[in-house]
Amino acid sequence: MAKTLEVVVRPHELRERVAQWRRKGERIAFVPTMGNLHAGHGSLVSKASELAEHVIVSIFVNPLQFGPNEDFAAYPRTPEDDRELLRSLNVEVLFAPEVDDIYPRGQETTARVHVPGLEDILCGAFRPGHFMGVATVVTKLLNLVQPDVALFGEKDFQQLMIIRRAAIDLCMPIEIVGVPTAREKDGLAMSSRNRYLLPEQRAVAPQIFAALDRARVALEAGSTDYAALEQAGTEALQKAGFRPDYFAIRDAHSLQMPNGESNDLVIVTAARIGRARLIDNVRAKRPSK
Ligand code: PAF
Repeated sequence: MAKTLEVVVRPHELRERVAQWRRKGERIAFVPTMGNLHAGHGSLVSKASELAEHVIVSIFVNPLQFGPNEDFAAYPRTPEDDRELLRSLNVEVLFAPEVDDIYPRGQETTARVHVPGLEDILCGAFRPGHFMGVATVVTKLLNLVQPDVALFGEKDFQQLMIIRRAAIDLCMPIEIVGVPTAREKDGLAMSSRNRYLLPEQRAVAPQIFAALDRARVALEAGSTDYAALEQAGTEALQKAGFRPDYFAIRDAHSLQMPNGESNDLVIVTAARIGRARLIDNVRAKRPSK
């Protein structure tokens, strides 16, 4: 049945709507976003509607997860297009809170959620405070919505791991589901930040996935020379015109360097070009001995 999109701004209104569904014993799936929705978000919403009777999408550009020199002000905001897409996806509720609804006493005094061991490595080393901001806002949003299940893209692999860990450690009775990365035909991972790419930068952007996939092929063929593969990935990106922050091979369960026991690996990278900082990852299964 076609649903009408209801836009809810105030948390108490959202709670009322959720309470009505709960009283009927119906399941709720939640997709938190920062807007500028694309087909990648579309696949999160599609999966969400398979898992629950009701889907809530939030749009909130979270100031706490942006550093002082990052793109908070410039982050693409496309509310009309977003609503149109959500209507076409049959979403029932868009939760679009104001900053004061999420940070009632200001960002400076808010309680903060840290996930030690995961928040300072990889992207966290280059974006201090970023994952604290993500873990904090996601905890607040999950507390407000109280869904049965919440869905996040696997493109943000480190973010997904941090959210899973926070949900477990904070005893939230919510299933956290990762959804595979949606890609353009040429392999580029879909991202709101792809908008920043000039045509010549967009032309080389698929090199990120290509470099990750070359490392995957080598790992799956049995290579354990992680340092050489990381170096080759970094150089390939530099040659294509990127400034890589890192190109790293990690254990997919701990995000630490792989040890002899790690069979499930992930190759993760973040690379800058022009105004854009793009991230992507590819999983690799090490052949069994
Ligand atoms: O991935 C995002 O869009 C954001 O980091 C999230 C999870 C919505 C938190 O602001």
